[in-house]
Amino acid sequence: MNLVLLGPPGAGKGTQAVRLAEAFGLQHLSSGDLLRAERKSGTELGRRVASYMDSGALVPDDIIVEVILARVLNPTKPAGVLLDGFPRTLAQAEALDKALANASKKVDLVVSLVVPDEPIVERITGRRVCPTCGAVYHVKTLPPAKEGVCDKDSSALVHRTDDTAEVVKERLSAYHAQTRPLEDYYRGKGLMVEVDGTADVETVFQAARREISNRVGEARA
Ligand code: AP5
Repeated sequence: MNLVLLGPPGAGKGTQAVRLAEAFGLQHLSSGDLLRAERKSGTELGRRVASYMDSGALVPDDIIVEVILARVLNPTKPAGVLLDGFPRTLAQAEALDKALANASKKVDLVVSLVVPDEPIVERITGRRVCPTCGAVYHVKTLPPAKEGVCDKDSSALVHRTDDTAEVVKERLSAYHAQTRPLEDYYRGKGLMVEVDGTADVETVFQAARREISNRVGEARA
């Protein structure tokens, strides 16, 4: 099963991807996490993408396609992958379809988390993430038990450099211009389901899980 999570920055893709991947036994593949790992390791690729990410622009299609496709085609979990943050342009969606078709696979469902622009800035500027395990918190709505410390591994939580109000505006504008058209692309293929992403985390999870179970296959538990 190959699933895609669509939605604007801060829609809750990462938050839900962790839960849904666990529920359906899928590998969670986050394009943003992969790019941040390249930057952290100081690779040539990491240096090439840094300025795009810091400004809120999308990185060039050829770079992200090369980073992610091999992983999509060779998942570490036999059940398949849950894509979070990829594809983000029509060119990426077409590259994904072509690569999957060559391997006799396909995108099985696209879950779009629908959140208007207004709550996004608040969500993103309050987000804190664990640099070790990737757990996502929010200073107000999902705080860790001890301020600034990950509940799971006690690492010091960090504020992403692109999580400022100014950069979020650029990320939202990139989303509206380049990623929103994907909704029509997948709707045309009969693969799109929409979930209200403004509800609380558990309600969103249950709604997405239900849609996936109804359309593609039962959760493990
Ligand atoms: P990426 O890391 O993918 O960022 P993004 O899409 O902007 O998404 P976010 O990680 O900001 O948000 P999310 O939807 O995962 O929300 P989260 O669950 O954390 O990309 C970063 C950059 O990398 C891009 O700008 C680009 O430069 C580059 N890039 C990545 N992929 C690319 C691609 N394919 N092509 C080109 N460039 C690419 O939640 C956010 C906050 O809200 C958290 O604090 C959370 O606790 C809270 N929250 C979550 N759900 C709820 C809820 N239901 N109610 C209340 N609060 C909630």
